[in-house]
Amino acid sequence: MQNRYEFDYLIIGSGAAGLFAASKLAEHGKVAVVNKGEFSESNTWYAQGGIAGVMDATDSVEHHVSDTLQAGCGLCHEDAVRNIIGRGNRIIEELISFGTAFDSDNGVLHLTREAAHSHRRIAHAKDATGKAVGEALLAPVARNPNIKAFPRHMAVDVITARHLGRYMQGPDRCFGAYVLAPDGEVITIAAKHTILATGGAGKVYLFTSNPHVATGDGVAMAWRAGCPVMNMEFIQFHPTCLYNPLGSTELLTEALRGEGAYLTDAKSRRFMPEYHALAELAPRDIVARAIDYEMKKQGCDFMYLDARHLGSDKIEAHFPNIMQRLLKIGIDLRTQPVPIVPAAHYLCGGVQTDVAGKTPVDGLHVIGESACTGLHGANRLASNSLLECLVMAELCAELIAGDTTQRPPRLPEWDASGVVPATERVQIKQNWEEIRTTMSNYVGIVRSDERLRRARRRLAMIREEIASYYWQHPIGRDLIELRNLSLVAELIVRSAQQRRESRGLHFSTDHRDTLDKPHDTVLAPDLL
Ligand code: FAD
Ligand code: SIN
Repeated sequence: MQNRYEFDYLIIGSGAAGLFAASKLAEHGKVAVVNKGEFSESNTWYAQGGIAGVMDATDSVEHHVSDTLQAGCGLCHEDAVRNIIGRGNRIIEELISFGTAFDSDNGVLHLTREAAHSHRRIAHAKDATGKAVGEALLAPVARNPNIKAFPRHMAVDVITARHLGRYMQGPDRCFGAYVLAPDGEVITIAAKHTILATGGAGKVYLFTSNPHVATGDGVAMAWRAGCPVMNMEFIQFHPTCLYNPLGSTELLTEALRGEGAYLTDAKSRRFMPEYHALAELAPRDIVARAIDYEMKKQGCDFMYLDARHLGSDKIEAHFPNIMQRLLKIGIDLRTQPVPIVPAAHYLCGGVQTDVAGKTPVDGLHVIGESACTGLHGANRLASNSLLECLVMAELCAELIAGDTTQRPPRLPEWDASGVVPATERVQIKQNWEEIRTTMSNYVGIVRSDERLRRARRRLAMIREEIASYYWQHPIGRDLIELRNLSLVAELIVRSAQQRRESRGLHFSTDHRDTLDKPHDTVLAPDLL
């Protein structure tokens, strides 16, 4: 079996960011797209609500910019916001040209609403927008002769000059990545440019809307390659995920509240009007905290999302997929309130980049949810992330297309000498559970100095254990993910400890005030 490949562009991850970049770059060279699972297993594929863009005559880019800045609680980078938001309507039009079937009435897009948006501006394909976008982006990639797909191939680490001992001075350079093939061999993929488009890290928490693939691999790989991370403390908890003690949780789109659904307690009391003038449509951080507070105050495991008054016709037309999935577990959205809890949903921080995904390592780019451009600030406005993925992919492709960088040098093969098969795997299982429980109990919606201290101590110990296991035994997907997950968890905690205030998604009982002067939390890797 071939264990060495060379391409112009190596893209790791096949969500919206990776696929869009691939189709743009295939016009300029040979592209490899690597995914650790099937191409349809990504946060993108599960997106429900839609993609935000200014498509209505009563709306304007200024309104969308202003809503984004307000949701971001003073921490958005306005230049990034203007750059990305300004491209929204063109991106939606391009998605339509790719074949995305957004809902429309007589040729006019149907725009739904989500929390903290002052206007209806979310283009959607019923309640399964991500699948529609993913399928449209995947089709041209699948038939393009310039693109080679590597499903079930997992990137282990990127390869840099520093890693090879060839680093002299100035910026480091990336030459490609080591990738675990389905047969367990680690192959080498060399490329002039490597793009990490690996999505988020919801699996750091016990309860998440994210699929299993969201283990923060790109953030961890970029960090190990020397890239700083920014604002990792801002984990967005989605207010309305299904409370399902017998199975996995799943998202109940914010568009339900956008179309009028209520949040209630067990006595059918609507509580959100007590917390914010926008009630159920307040920014996500406020809604998630209010639910958390009510649950703790009332000693309940969940609150309810009540959509009954929207009427069967509207529910069946706009939310058919959610309705069907709930019916399978015995809940009828048309006639019953649905038990909900907030769950980890989106990584607002990530690898510090510009809007084109540029990092300090030449030839290494990070785009999509793994990156932090400053668009989201301390709290992401709903449906801005698919937009950010696509804009970043486009700008990254523009930046590197046709680049005359020389081919990478011949790279050494992965060295697996000295490793011995593991006799048991219980350590991996234990560490996975410990990380996720620690993060959920100590680094959730409400934090304190003591909780963060405890989490930091435990995570440091777990990371040490993983490091020794990692270098002694052959690597597999769960071990690679565990190593990445533990690093990302630590970065979240360390960032949270640096923020001595409450802002947006970071709320601390020891630092309740918001400082006058907003500042980003930037952590730089210690390469020594
Ligand atoms: P992803 O789509 O997550 O793709 C990353 C890919 O990288 C995955 O396929 C993964 O398998 C692969 N990968 C990861 N690590 C490796 C590795 N080591 N090697 C190889 N491959 C790897 N945003 C909106 O704007 N609107 C919405 O309506 C919306 N709804 C959402 C609903 C849900 C349930 C969720 C979870 C998210 C939602 N979001 C929404 C957020 C949005 O979907 C994501 O932020 C966005 O899709 C991320 O795209 P991406 O391309 O960066 O990453
Ligand atoms: C949702 O549909 O509620 C998710 C939207 C988002 O996270 O942007």
